[in-house]
Amino acid sequence: MKLTAEQIQSNWEVFLDNIKVHIPGNRGEQLLNFYKRYEERIILMPAAHKKEYHSAFPGGYVDHVNRVVRCALKQYDLWESEGCDMTTFTKEELVFSAINHDLGKMGDKEHEAYIPQTDQWRKDKLGEDYMFNKKLAFCSVPDRGLFLLQQHDITYSFNEMVAIQTHDGLYDVANEKYLKAFMPEQKPRTSLPYILHQADMMAARIEFEIEWLPKFSKDNVEQPKKNYTLQSKTSSKSKALNTIASSGLKNMLDSL
Ligand SMILES: [Fe+2]
Repeated sequence: MKLTAEQIQSNWEVFLDNIKVHIPGNRGEQLLNFYKRYEERIILMPAAHKKEYHSAFPGGYVDHVNRVVRCALKQYDLWESEGCDMTTFTKEELVFSAINHDLGKMGDKEHEAYIPQTDQWRKDKLGEDYMFNKKLAFCSVPDRGLFLLQQHDITYSFNEMVAIQTHDGLYDVANEKYLKAFMPEQKPRTSLPYILHQADMMAARIEFEIEWLPKFSKDNVEQPKKNYTLQSKTSSKSKALNTIASSGLKNMLDSL
């Protein structure tokens, strides 16, 4: 998928508006300053370095985050209508967590996590336009995102920390300690992590469908090449079959 320059610009404006509308006060100002400081990097960032993952194209990161915010607000209404206790977290916490859930994909202060692919073969054959920047020390996406926030003096609540940490749900085994507890007192005291995870999963699934489902349509799937040796009625078929010792196999191939 490719976004136009206008779409990328308009996505960025929506991204900043989400902060202005949902994150009030000094924290909102600090968050806006943070994102404006790294604007040039973030505005064009892909959401992943491999095309098999979702939104691995210029502007894909902001497009994904905006979709997660939209889905999170819709999930909020759904959970509320089904009787979820909405007093255990705030809408600000939900939107803050959604905006920053994948921030760790940015890399660190100096280094971008996803850089242009230098291996021409991988670019041509695998369609990988990006590769992971090996200058960065390993860190999980949630850990790096939370580190970046505290490094820039942007505070987050306990609820936001757990939601960002567990946004991949049980797709990340590291989250089992939060999400697989059997004792009631060890379960999350708020549904915020589940709402964020559902919003992220929904957005990623929809992005997969936009990118990949058309490629699997009947018209786009490559048809298998014909085997001329076995299907042709020319002497080459007989010649090839004559070299097969097994008469059963020979009969089977002969009948094709
Ligand atoms: Fe995400």
